[in-house]
Amino acid sequence: MEMSITFYDAALVGHIIGITLMAGAAFIDLAAFQIFWKVFLKDPAEGVRLEKYLNKLQKFMGIGMLVILISGILMMVKMHEVWGAQLWFRIKMGVLLLIIINGLGLRRMLGSRLKRTLAAYFTGVDIAEAMVKLKNRLMTVQTIQVLLFIIIYVLSIFKFN
Ligand code: HEM
Repeated sequence: MEMSITFYDAALVGHIIGITLMAGAAFIDLAAFQIFWKVFLKDPAEGVRLEKYLNKLQKFMGIGMLVILISGILMMVKMHEVWGAQLWFRIKMGVLLLIIINGLGLRRMLGSRLKRTLAAYFTGVDIAEAMVKLKNRLMTVQTIQVLLFIIIYVLSIFKFN
């Protein structure tokens, strides 16, 4: 029993580290985009440079997700009979799916669209309208991502059943 409690708690520490990486990256993505947008309106060339650096932070979403999944599955090895049957856990797995679709799928799609639009700017294309559309969509996806994390926190801590 002593051994398995240590194992479970170690996995939970890993879970929190993964959450820090992924949810941290999601919040910074939202906050940094506001800065990008202000810079871009003042000086598009500077905005494009900034976007290139900010985009590199995206990888922490993926790394965090991997750590969350591995540690979550390790905890379930010990507790699947208890948590697996409970309502909060089933809803949590549904919200997890939304996090993957929204934060990894839609976010990546909009990110490459932003890149293409910014590249078009240098060929003389008028991108003003496309950029406003992109801004709204990105901010929606980023805000939803932060809210989905909060929903999973509430589910995981209150464990409604
Ligand atoms: C974005 C994905 C996830 C987030 C944000 C998240 C978040 C959390 C949080 C905040 C806790 C509470 C920690 C505590 O009690 O101190 C927790 C616990 C837990 N999570 Fe996750 N989790 C995620 C994905 C997963 C996955 C995929 C699994 C399993 C396959 C999982 C299984 C568990 C288990 C078993 C616990 C421990 C419950 C306990 O002993 O109190 N989680 N999670």
